[in-house]
Order: sequence, then structure tokens, then C-alpha cells
Amino acid sequence: MSETSVAEKATSGAEEMTSVAEKTTCGAEKAASAAGKATSGASIELESLTKRYPGNPQPAVDNVNMEIKAGEIVVFVGPSGCGKSTTLKMINRLIEPTGGRIRIDGADVTDMDPVKLRRNVGYAIQASGLFPHMTVAQNIALVPKMIGWPAARIRSRVEEMLDLVGLDPGEFHGRYPRRLSGGQQQRVGVARALAADPPVLLMDEPFGAVDPITREHLQDELIRLQHELHKTIVFVTHDFDEAIKLGDRIAVLRERSHIAQFDTPEAILTNPADDFVSGFVGAGAALKRLNLTRVRDVEITDYPTVTVDDPLQQIFNKLRGSGVGEVLLLDEHGRPYKWLRRGDMMRARGSLARAGTLVHDTVTRDATLRDALEAVLTDNAGRVVVTGRRGEYTGVVDMETLMNSVHELLEADRLDAVEHQQELAETRARQTHGEQEGAGGEKA
Ligand SMILES: Nc1ncnc2c1ncn2[C@@H]1O[C@H](COP(=O)(O)OP(=O)(O)OP(=O)(O)O)[C@@H](O)[C@H]1O
Ligand SMILES: [Mg+2]
Repeated sequence: MSETSVAEKATSGAEEMTSVAEKTTCGAEKAASAAGKATSGASIELESLTKRYPGNPQPAVDNVNMEIKAGEIVVFVGPSGCGKSTTLKMINRLIEPTGGRIRIDGADVTDMDPVKLRRNVGYAIQASGLFPHMTVAQNIALVPKMIGWPAARIRSRVEEMLDLVGLDPGEFHGRYPRRLSGGQQQRVGVARALAADPPVLLMDEPFGAVDPITREHLQDELIRLQHELHKTIVFVTHDFDEAIKLGDRIAVLRERSHIAQFDTPEAILTNPADDFVSGFVGAGAALKRLNLTRVRDVEITDYPTVTVDDPLQQIFNKLRGSGVGEVLLLDEHGRPYKWLRRGDMMRARGSLARAGTLVHDTVTRDATLRDALEAVLTDNAGRVVVTGRRGEYTGVVDMETLMNSVHELLEADRLDAVEHQQELAETRARQTHGEQEGAGGEKA
């Protein structure tokens, strides 16, 4: 756990404790229950939101305007120090804004008691921020207890939350955080943030401290959870790939939280607003594009094939005629079996059983081009067989196919972007024209 997160949790915890007696409902609660769906998300509006830290003439967050829709995941990405955490923490007023307003489901929460606000806004941070002297169950029960839920309801809620994040309640209920793995701590952190069923969930690099594999799992779980819960989630990360995976929309932020682009992952990848965004999407844009494309969407090369039932003479002929000096041997079900090169048959004295090298890796038509590239790069001859639903041969992808596909994709993206810009320009021109005509201004 980082020092700041301990301090942060301690302060917010202490604040929370002082308010246990308070009973007033807050605007967000009212708004959510008025809409009759206390469990789903709430919209968030940031209006000219600004933070100036004392002693610094430059604001850390300068005049941010943003509308986040109920039930969407919005990811903030941007360079270190650009103001992501400050912006996020102003939403639940862990940091007090020095200017602007925050509305949750239409209700202005800028001047509301921050402690009450925090009951409606779950918060999960890197390294989980769990209280080390409390058990898993006590950590999860924190906010429900504070807002005065009856003990029985809290107990069943704790079990429910542990189930939800994939931890066995019997096993984990009474454990202390230090006896959990990083990924398990992070799951408990998410369970705690969700325990009082807040419509809004703020997550500040929640998966930043775990290994890449656990991170993938936690991301997949968050996507699954969100399918069930439909919260409004604001998620901060450094990692653009994480943003692409999780975000319904991504806000690319530059210094002082200025919004460089706020759009869907596809739009940002294929049509970055400016050089800053392209720079952030990075040299990896082409590789990331490979993740959005499937093998079935590109042209697959047909390869010379023979089957184990073919007469040997026919196999020899095919080998001799093969422009690539190689044929693919299929088994009796048409599935890839071995690569046969010229000379292999001679060395094996005509025995198919001894000749050639086994096909050890294949990709399906549903694999991404990135998966295919991985397979091609690790294959000693730089190609991979594409199989159909029953494992049957459908074609081969090699380096050349991949390179051509990527060029075509990027070129198509570029043309789309140009077309999109032309449409925008035409719409703008029509509007101006319409306005002029509406004003009675005939062209001379
Ligand atoms: N308590 C503070 N007092 C003064 N300046 C601060 C304080 N907290 C943050 N800042 C400054 O505000 C700016 C924004 O910080 P913030 O923590 O929001 O950045 P961030 O985008 O979350 O960065 P990172 O990706 O490194 O977490 C930075 O320049 C930082 O130095
Ligand atoms: Mg930060």
C-alpha cells in the first residue's frame, strides 16, 4: 500500500466515522431512488471544474467540462501528473474543488457534506487501500455499517459481495489483508467499494500494482460485473491498452486535465484528434489496430495441400510443383498434420509417418490478427495455419499477408478519417448557408 493511499483512507475513514449518527439522505440518493433504480448508475457532470493547490500559480486541474452518462465506463488516460487523480477525487470531494460544479444525476453535490456524498460514490484505489487491522468482512462492511444497515443485512451483503468478486466467503471472510495475494486484495477493494451499492464507482489505477496475468483477470471480472450492475464507472489508468479494453469512452487528458479527445476507443485509435493523442496512442497504434481485427476479416492465402490418403507419387508431384518448396499434409479429417518440404520424403525413404515436421500451432478464424502475428513470429518458418470450426484447414497466414493487411487497414482508416472530416465540413457549410438564408441574406 502506498503512503498516500494509507493517509487517504485514514482521513476519509475518520471523516466517515464521525458521521455515523447522521441520517439525512443526499441528493444523489434521492435522485437515484426517484428514478426507481437505486442499483444502476447515475450521470456525472463536471462544469468548469478547477483545482488550484496552495502555493502553485498554475491550476492542477483547469476548467474541465465533461458529461458522463449513467451506466457507462469512462476511462481517463494521460501522462503522469496531468491531473487524472485530482479530477477523479474531486468527483467524491476527497479533494475539494476550488472552482466549478459537480452534478450527480442532475443534483449539485458541490456544496453537499462530502461524507454523505461518499456514501453514494464507491472508491477503489491501487494496492486496494484495505485497513490492515480489519478482516476482509470488516473491510467490506465499513460503509454499510456507517450508514446504519442492520447487522443481518450487512452479513448477507458481505457474503454476496465476496461471491460477486469470485472469493469463497467461507474461506476469506475472516482473513486479514496481509494474508491475501495482490489480486485478492484488489478484489476485496472492489467488493468494499460496491458494498453500499453506490450508483457511481471511481477507480484510480486499481489494477496498477498486480502482475499482468492477474490484471487481465481483474479486467475481465470488471467487465462481467459491469454487465450485471450497470454502474457509472470512472476509471483512471496509465495504460492505453487497459483503456481500450474497459472504456465505453476514453478521455485522453493532457496537462491540467485539458481534454485532448473524449470518444470511443475505435474513434480514438483510428482518428486521433491531434499529435498529442497520436503520441499517446503511440507507436503501438498499428499493433493495437491488430487487436480490433479478426483473421476472418483479412485475405488468407491458399497453400498447396496433400492428404495422408493421397498416393505417394501424387505427393511427390505436388512437392515438386510447389512454388514455396513445401506442402501441408492434412490428416483424414482435413486437419493440418505436418509440413512437408522437398527432401523430407527422400530422407524418410518415402514413409509419411517419418517425414516432415508436426504442425504445432494453429489459429482459428476468430483469432485476432495480433494472435496470428504472435503465432507467425514464433514459428520457425514464419507462417501459421488457419482452421475452421472443426479444426479443418482453411488457409495459411504468413508475414506477407499480415503486412499487407495492416497496410490496407491503416489506409482504410485514413480514408475514413478524411471522409469523416469532409462530412463535418459539409454539414458546417450547410448550417452556415441555412442560417444565412434564414436571415433573409440572399447571395449576390
Ligand atoms: N496535494 C498537492 N499539493 C500540491 N500539488 C499537488 C498535490 N497533489 C497533486 N499535486 C500536483 O497536481 C498535479 C496533478 O496531480 P495528479 O495526482 O492529479 O496527477 P495524475 O495525473 O494522477 O498523475 P499520476 O499518473 O502520476 O498518478 C501534479 O502536478 C501534482 O504535482
Ligand atoms: Mg494519479
